[in-house]
Amino acid sequence: KKTMNDVEVNGKRVFVRVDFNVPMENGEITDDTRIRAALPTISNLVEKDAKVILASHLGRPKGEVKEELRLTAVGKHLAELLGQPVTKLDESIGETVGKAIADMKNGDIVLLENVRFHAGEEKNDPELALSFAKLADLYVNDAFGAAHRAHATTAGIAEHIPAVSGLLMEKELDVLGKALSNPERPFTAIIGGAKVKDKIGVIENLLDKVDHLIIGGGLSYTFSKAQGHDIGKSLLEEDKIELAKSFIEKAQAKGVKMHMPIDVIVADAFSKDANTKEVDIDQIPSDWMGLDIGPKTTAEYAEVIKNSKLVIWNGPMGVFEMDTFANGTKGVAEAMAVTDAYTIIGGGDSAAAVEKFQVADKMNHISTGGGASLEFMEGKALPGVVALNDK
Ligand code: 3PG
Repeated sequence: KKTMNDVEVNGKRVFVRVDFNVPMENGEITDDTRIRAALPTISNLVEKDAKVILASHLGRPKGEVKEELRLTAVGKHLAELLGQPVTKLDESIGETVGKAIADMKNGDIVLLENVRFHAGEEKNDPELALSFAKLADLYVNDAFGAAHRAHATTAGIAEHIPAVSGLLMEKELDVLGKALSNPERPFTAIIGGAKVKDKIGVIENLLDKVDHLIIGGGLSYTFSKAQGHDIGKSLLEEDKIELAKSFIEKAQAKGVKMHMPIDVIVADAFSKDANTKEVDIDQIPSDWMGLDIGPKTTAEYAEVIKNSKLVIWNGPMGVFEMDTFANGTKGVAEAMAVTDAYTIIGGGDSAAAVEKFQVADKMNHISTGGGASLEFMEGKALPGVVALNDK
């Protein structure tokens, strides 16, 4: 697979797919991490005198123009970050786009409108992919966060013009790839989040690779149930109990040390104002629910993290949006901040957690992909990457 450093870009029209799918509230960007993560690629192309055509999706407009999902605020913010004008267009294909690109000088930046305003984007419509390809001489995919999607601007376009990876894409693939193929040991994975169902593939794949597997969050109660504990009103996926049992057995057979909660914070309601108490895992009252790991568990997990050489974290330990149930996730985030291990945050909620607990700058790598990093950790091929490999 070629990267953008392997090709000549001077004076060329370069179509750069970025993932500017940032969280917005009332027209304001609430987290610009993904925009900042794309700056090295954009600046590099500008310095090399390319004509930089940026394309991204924002949200899920389902093929319709949605005013609140325009990329206008993103373009404005990007211009501020770069200290350079960004020409934001109100379309992503068509006459005005063609004209704006024809008018570009070397080093100029154009930002196309949300590509998902066209239904063909998510369908990977060949005609739309060709229209995008015709805008440029070269395609750079820097949208690691959208690499698990086979869409017109993430995959289809690569069939028509030379296609290479961007610097962010390279970095993400490099860090995650090395971690999974040649890990420093002890290698620990922390898997949390709400549902077993969403983490089956990643647990399966990681059981072949890690030395320690730490389980937390909503999904841990199905594991506790599988171990024979009464979990009261805690979240349970009845149809995943057998699977959880088989994971516990597999871990044992493979010599993977599995760590599951030994105590939990229980509440009498799913509310920040609920009554709460700390109980051992076999003491959950029948009409209470576990909403966070307890202090003994947190201390044990912190110790494992401390003694590791590599840690990958995906999914919170409890309902950390509510302060009452945030201590487990906070404890893990803080342990990640002080360990000597190489620390990787697998995007999404865990990235939000290290941000919230102000330890983001202490992590070695925070992936810009949520779904993409999860699929990568599942060992799946990402269509956006495969499209580049083909070239
Ligand atoms: C993400 O936020 O995970 C990516 O931008 C992909 O967005 P999507 O789930 O709407 O395809």
